[in-house]
Amino acid sequence: MKELKETLQQTAQFWKGFYAAHSLRHTPSPFAQWCLENYLPENSHILELGCGNGRDSFAFLHRNLPVIACDACGVAIADNLQHQTSLNLNVKGNFLTLNFAELETLEAKNINTLYSRFVLHAIPESLEDKILDYATARLPSGGRMLHEFRTIRDPLMQQGEALSETERLTTHYRRFLNPDVFRKKLAVRGWKELFFVESDELAVFGNENPVVARIVVEKG
Ligand SMILES: C[S@@+](CC[C@H](N)C(=O)[O-])C[C@H]1O[C@@H](n2cnc3c(N)ncnc32)[C@H](O)[C@@H]1O
Repeated sequence: MKELKETLQQTAQFWKGFYAAHSLRHTPSPFAQWCLENYLPENSHILELGCGNGRDSFAFLHRNLPVIACDACGVAIADNLQHQTSLNLNVKGNFLTLNFAELETLEAKNINTLYSRFVLHAIPESLEDKILDYATARLPSGGRMLHEFRTIRDPLMQQGEALSETERLTTHYRRFLNPDVFRKKLAVRGWKELFFVESDELAVFGNENPVVARIVVEKG
């Protein structure tokens, strides 16, 4: 079995190739639209982790919500910056190439909301913990986190090479989350749960109907 480091390097190459070939922007994700309808008030200053091709970042910007959006994939970030110049936005996004391994170097001034979609299952647990510690240290009281991720109930977990009980390698690395474990980590760090669901039918894409969790929490 390959070392995790090598697997993650291979996955970074996968994302580079993916975004180089998919510069076409999709509509915002159902999760982003749902968040906008329910949990992103006008005063939200968003830090989006793992923005990819910016499909959700631009939806937030179109609603005049300030966004710092970062991703380890420089190709995707460069494309987002270029795309932004073609738009007449009132609020400009701050797109940054950043690996979560260096998250503590990010000075996210005025941020009160941390958003990630399909990102927590794309990274190892050590980086998930880093994100939770960062949010706990840097977000103000009343600040929010909104996450959507694949869970251990997702049928895709049955595919690929098993790297551990919950980690799989197909064309790229995935780690399927146990929502109970994740919710406990948030509670221990003092986050109050505003919403939680685990279900299919929330992130249907083509023939794919993954089992995902959506969670919204507020800092105490
Ligand atoms: C499944 S994609 C989700 C993209 C976007 N949020 C969406 O919903 O379309 C996962 C993203 O996480 C990014 N990513 C993975 N590991 C990362 C890391 N260690 N640091 C920063 N970004 C990372 C990838 O480059 C990729 O854009």
